[in-house]
Amino acid sequence: MSILVTGGAGYIGSHICVELLEAGYDVVVVDNLSNSSEKALERVEEITGKKTKFYNADIRDKSAMNYIFENEEIEAVMHLAGLKAVGESVSKPLEYYDNNISGTLSLCYAMRKHGVKDIIFSSSATVYGEPKQMPITEETEKGICTNPYGWTKWMIEEILIDLHTSDNSWNVVILRYFNPVGAHKSGKIGEDPKGIPNNLTPYITQVAIGKLEKLGVFGDDYDTHDGTGVRDYIHVVDLAKGHVSALNKLQEKEGVSVYNLGTGVGYSVLDVLKGFEKATGKEIPYEVKPRRVGDIAMSYCEATKAKEEMGWEAQKGIDEMCEDSWRWQQANPEGYDTEK
Ligand code: NAD
Ligand code: WQD
Repeated sequence: MSILVTGGAGYIGSHICVELLEAGYDVVVVDNLSNSSEKALERVEEITGKKTKFYNADIRDKSAMNYIFENEEIEAVMHLAGLKAVGESVSKPLEYYDNNISGTLSLCYAMRKHGVKDIIFSSSATVYGEPKQMPITEETEKGICTNPYGWTKWMIEEILIDLHTSDNSWNVVILRYFNPVGAHKSGKIGEDPKGIPNNLTPYITQVAIGKLEKLGVFGDDYDTHDGTGVRDYIHVVDLAKGHVSALNKLQEKEGVSVYNLGTGVGYSVLDVLKGFEKATGKEIPYEVKPRRVGDIAMSYCEATKAKEEMGWEAQKGIDEMCEDSWRWQQANPEGYDTEK
């Protein structure tokens, strides 16, 4: 029996493959490589000494999905495949709704047809919108999303809940990630954004390595300890281990469960910048810019539910996140694609 990881060649998916293989699971990956490289899976093999079975296919392709379920013995699905760039989703809403929602529907049709009804879904703290209170718990109401990407996560959660309501043999674990950062200790896999990064940590590492001139800090007048935005950064390896714990939870067949995956600690943009200065031994130039549209001042979670119910908690702190991101960036200055 295998675990199917949709989007398994991506940043988070490749780290999940490592943790699954190391925990003794067989892993099947489906990915259309729209935002990733097959090299990530080669590196997964270098790290673990084990192979994943890879299908280069789009999850919206129903016949491809049926083919996979017919040819593999899938016991559960970790569903990561999706487009994830917030700004791009505002300019390409149809593409985002089509890829993320239609992709999920096609996946679920194939799962139902083949009697596979256990799914772990990669959701996001973005579904909380702009919460009135911190920390964010799983009881915090879902909010108003500021972009189509966020709405796709919001809606897919509802689709999976409806599926369970219609047929309670479906088991769904919704994982709401906070801000995943860092890379595997080996420096062999990590985040490889196309073009200029939107997210904070890859932007900083590209400044540190000299590809970008300086970091723009989006606002220093928020109501936070130093005026810059505060987030709950979580090491991607901790996040990946959270999926292995969620798989055990899924086996308890409890219907729908929702967990925040974060550390419970908030760091500001300037805290992160200092963390990278320590890790790189370099001064990282920055300039304060206006606030970015759609940003909130603070986002951090209450991480106790995952600890109590899944026995999972994040182990790695900000220093390790910065050191591991920097190791990956230095070893792979052009990401996976040396010809970029
Ligand atoms: P990523 O882009 O590196 O990985 C997503 C993978 O899905 C890519 O390999 C891409 O090629 C693949 N993919 C996209 N559409 C597909 C399709 N139609 N068919 C097959 N494959 C497809 O992104 P990531 O950071 O690893 O994110 C993984 C998941 O976690 C996504 O669902 C994302 O929305 C979610 N998430 C990410 C973050 C974050 O900050 N990185 C935060 C919260 C949630
Ligand atoms: C972090 C902080 C910025 C870049 C996004 C998505 C969210 C989730 C995770 C998928 C903020 C500041 C950033 C820069 C900066 N993804 N910043 N200069 O916005 O918290 O979350 O990724 O689900 O949905 O919205 O992450 O890394 O972009 O920003 O000052 O060049 O860094 O303002 O305070 P964010 P981020």
